[in-house]
Amino acid sequence: MIPDFHRINLLPPYVFEEVNKLKARLRREGVDIIDFGMGNPDMPTPSHIIDKLLETARDPKAGRYSASKGILGLRRAMAGYYQRRFDVTLDPETEVVATLGSKEGFANLAQALTAPGDEIICPNPAYPIHAYGFIMAGGVIRHIPALSPEAYLSGASRAIASSSARPTVLILSYPSNPTAQWVDLDFYKDAVALARKHELLVLSDIAYSEIYFENNPPPSVLQVEGARDLAVEVNSLSKTYAMAGWRVGMVVGNARLCAALARIKSYLDYGAYTPIQVAATAALNGPQDCVDEIRGIYKSRRDVLVSSMARAGWQIPSPPASMFAWAPLPEPFKAQGSMVFAKRLIEEAGVAVSPGVAFGEYGEGFVRIGLVENEHRIRQAARNVKRLLDKEIGAVNAADPVVAG
Ligand SMILES: Cc1ncc(COP(=O)(O)O)c(C=O)c1O
Repeated sequence: MIPDFHRINLLPPYVFEEVNKLKARLRREGVDIIDFGMGNPDMPTPSHIIDKLLETARDPKAGRYSASKGILGLRRAMAGYYQRRFDVTLDPETEVVATLGSKEGFANLAQALTAPGDEIICPNPAYPIHAYGFIMAGGVIRHIPALSPEAYLSGASRAIASSSARPTVLILSYPSNPTAQWVDLDFYKDAVALARKHELLVLSDIAYSEIYFENNPPPSVLQVEGARDLAVEVNSLSKTYAMAGWRVGMVVGNARLCAALARIKSYLDYGAYTPIQVAATAALNGPQDCVDEIRGIYKSRRDVLVSSMARAGWQIPSPPASMFAWAPLPEPFKAQGSMVFAKRLIEEAGVAVSPGVAFGEYGEGFVRIGLVENEHRIRQAARNVKRLLDKEIGAVNAADPVVAG
């Protein structure tokens, strides 16, 4: 008899499972689902990056094991990006680790840093690996409601004051998935001051550093003076260059944290396939107009989503950054909760979104809408949503003629 596995028991079935099953069943039945569920970029990777991959793959040496912390050329290109974009100078030897996507970097960093029972301060709602990376590593999560960045930081401060164990890590992630919140440099100054005061390490996930609108490029925590004494940043090529499936990310900043991650990785992997790393180097060092183009596509979709859903009767705040809108449930559905609403949207409108509660209990009352369908499909989704809303308002009114009157 195979016993239960301790670590597996700590991991509930992946949060999107229920909605995904429903989506799969309806698709099998031939229903066309307009799918805003996953943050999976749908545009092609720019062709010069693919060309570099193909060219490098023909090198007879290309199939050998690579370097687990990334080839030097790629780490230099990552440092070059930080210099160009944030005016932050990094040593590619000691302050940059190339990872197999930022998720892998984050999770293995958690493995590297965590002793059993360490308390980690994590926003809620959050991208699941932010909590589960540490839970898998034996840490204990202190969930802080994060309905605004300021609320998160003041909640973190109160939690530290009332905590019997001294927390060890403060997690930041802006622009945020799922809430699309954006912060300025002053926020990071406050966060670094808090971390310094309480001797916390800071892990900042900035996977959407280049997906921003309205001329407001997100800053890096490493721009704060002295931040690299205690902080690393996790970044990614997945969204910037539509390279999600390629699995290229980076962890940069504090040299001791980078060395700890590099040590863990040296036991686990041999680095990405070298041609992928060479192509990622070309992405970072090459022309950046493709990034403007990708950003422009998300911005147009955002505008169409917000305006067409408003016409349908669903007011969605316009996200300043990220590839998501964080949408409060429309009034007639508020009492049903985000999971029921997400299921009804799929079944009755053919529109898939992610229930906010899947990102943590404080995500209840919202759904996350990924900007991963084209504008035509977004308009179609809004028409379907309007029909569902009209039907629900009609049903509510019929059930309560006083309200209807
Ligand atoms: C906040 C955040 N961090 C990390 C990731 C994972 O990115 P990567 O593809 O680099 O692993 C995502 C993906 O959606 C994300 O939203």
